[in-house]
Amino acid sequence: MKFSSRVVAFSFLTILCAASPLILSMVPLRAQEAQTTAPQPEMTPGMVPESEIPFYTDWASSPHADSSSEAFRHWDSEGTVPANCAKCHSAPGFRDFVGADGTPAGVVDQPAPIGTVVSCVTCHNSETVNLKTVTFPSGVTVANLGGEAICMTCHQGRESSDSVSAALAGFDDDVVSDKLRFINVHYFAAGATLMGSVVRGAYQYPDKTYVGQETHVPPFNTCITCHDMHETKVKVEQCAACHQGVTDEASLRNIRSGMDKNDYDGDGDVSEGIAAEISGLHGQLYAAIQSYAKTVANTPVVYEGHSYPYFFLDSNDNGVADAEELKVPNQFKAWTPRLVRAAYNYQFVAKDTGGYSHNAAYLMQVMYDSIEDLAGKADIQMGSAQRP
Ligand code: HEC
Ligand code: HEC
Ligand code: HEC
Ligand code: HEC
Ligand code: HEC
Repeated sequence: MKFSSRVVAFSFLTILCAASPLILSMVPLRAQEAQTTAPQPEMTPGMVPESEIPFYTDWASSPHADSSSEAFRHWDSEGTVPANCAKCHSAPGFRDFVGADGTPAGVVDQPAPIGTVVSCVTCHNSETVNLKTVTFPSGVTVANLGGEAICMTCHQGRESSDSVSAALAGFDDDVVSDKLRFINVHYFAAGATLMGSVVRGAYQYPDKTYVGQETHVPPFNTCITCHDMHETKVKVEQCAACHQGVTDEASLRNIRSGMDKNDYDGDGDVSEGIAAEISGLHGQLYAAIQSYAKTVANTPVVYEGHSYPYFFLDSNDNGVADAEELKVPNQFKAWTPRLVRAAYNYQFVAKDTGGYSHNAAYLMQVMYDSIEDLAGKADIQMGSAQRP
């Protein structure tokens, strides 16, 4: 049933493409590409009424279509999107990666033109129709996926437990080295959170075990059953069918499994949303990072998630990220391997705002272990936090 309805949907899409110069202009016809060196325009507006394109309005309202976003404008002054960024930040780059431009799949062969977004034919082309596997930054390939494979190809982060371990190999755990740097997973790595220890997206401490893929009730356990695939918003009304008190996106953060009486963040409240347990542990991890940096690395640190490169020297040692401290030359440099691991996990959680729905247990496990690892060296209390 599902298969045939997909076939119908996609043959409809094919007819639509054939009928629509607007969409056709985005289809990577090999002959067409061979003839021209100029980048193809992403859209040729006005040739087909937008109202005739299915899901156009939903898509147009989504961040994927927001051509003014930093995620698509970042390279304007460079003139092209470099090959190592193009897979996720440009329409032709993604098509190149999946092989829809006729080049081998799994690699972006050349820089992509600027000025594109995540368009219809980014997600819908000859290769994505059959896309069932996704390789994550750890090198692990997940197979037998459905339409969500498209999402996970971009929303997977750019680092992993494996790359963090490799970068820290050979360094002394508590010795500051100017050869070390902060490792950033990148943004909205929802796919990596969702797959948990299967793809090792967060830093996993070697002597611990971690939960695998998120096990929320089917079918509400994939990107495109919880999110509308075109609008990208969470389907809140569907969540409300099972979760009492859910009325809007904000109230999703109050959801908690009724049977779960564990106090993960140790604040005495076992009825707060699972999102609040995550924030509680996140706050404790920050305090632990600050304490360790000061006492072991002898350099106070502050974090600000909206300012690159996120960790800064706390010049006035007041524990707070002040505006004048948030400058690139003032970035924090006193890294030790133990601090890099904890900071990596801190950012991993900070940059997945839906993490409480993507895999709460995985996030709480890596934060608990990061706090415990720092606590072995600095004067930090584990309190009554509980590891899931
Ligand atoms: C595996 C996919 C992937 C790759 C590769 C990738 N990014 Fe991203 N990037 C994303 C996603 C997903 C976002 C989400 C952005 C958002 O919603 O703001 C993002 C966001 C960004 C943003 C916007 C951040 C903000 O504050 O709004 C910048 C800048 C960025 N990436 C730079 C880069 C650069 C530079 C490269 C290449 C060195 C790169 N990215 C490679 C997936 C990727
Ligand atoms: C971010 C990726 C993405 C973008 C962008 C996107 N789609 Fe989709 N679309 C999907 C996914 C995923 C599915 C579900 C496919 C599946 O279940 O295998 C889908 C399904 C569809 C379907 C079938 C609907 C159904 O009910 O089965 C149509 C038609 C469609 N998209 C048209 C479009 C058009 C037209 C655009 C541009 C205006 C567009 N899509 C943009 C990801 C995308
Ligand atoms: C080609 C890469 C790519 C694909 C494929 C992709 N995304 Fe995205 N996604 C992005 C980028 C880049 C952004 C940031 C856009 C922006 O800042 O305007 C983003 C933003 C988002 C956001 C909003 C984040 C925010 O800032 O609020 C959601 C939710 C999302 N994507 C979900 C999905 C889902 C679900 C799918 C699969 C149907 C998908 N994405 C497929 C690259 C991709
Ligand atoms: C169990 C349901 C569920 C699943 C499965 C799920 N998400 Fe989410 N996602 C959410 C919720 C809930 C939020 C938080 C929305 C909010 O707080 O506004 C969220 C947030 C996000 C965000 C950040 C958006 C923002 O505005 O901050 C992105 C990006 C995202 N999800 C992408 C994905 C991708 C990609 C997948 C598949 C790998 C996925 N999600 C799977 C429920 C889900
Ligand atoms: C068919 C019923 C059903 C629907 C629909 C549903 N959920 Fe759930 N959800 C559950 C059940 C049951 C649990 C408790 C699982 C358990 O404890 O094993 C749960 C647990 C959760 C949790 C808490 C996880 C934890 O670790 O405590 C979150 C967050 C959540 N759901 C988010 C969502 C979101 C977001 C949606 C909508 C996209 C949604 N759910 C739709 C049944 C549902």
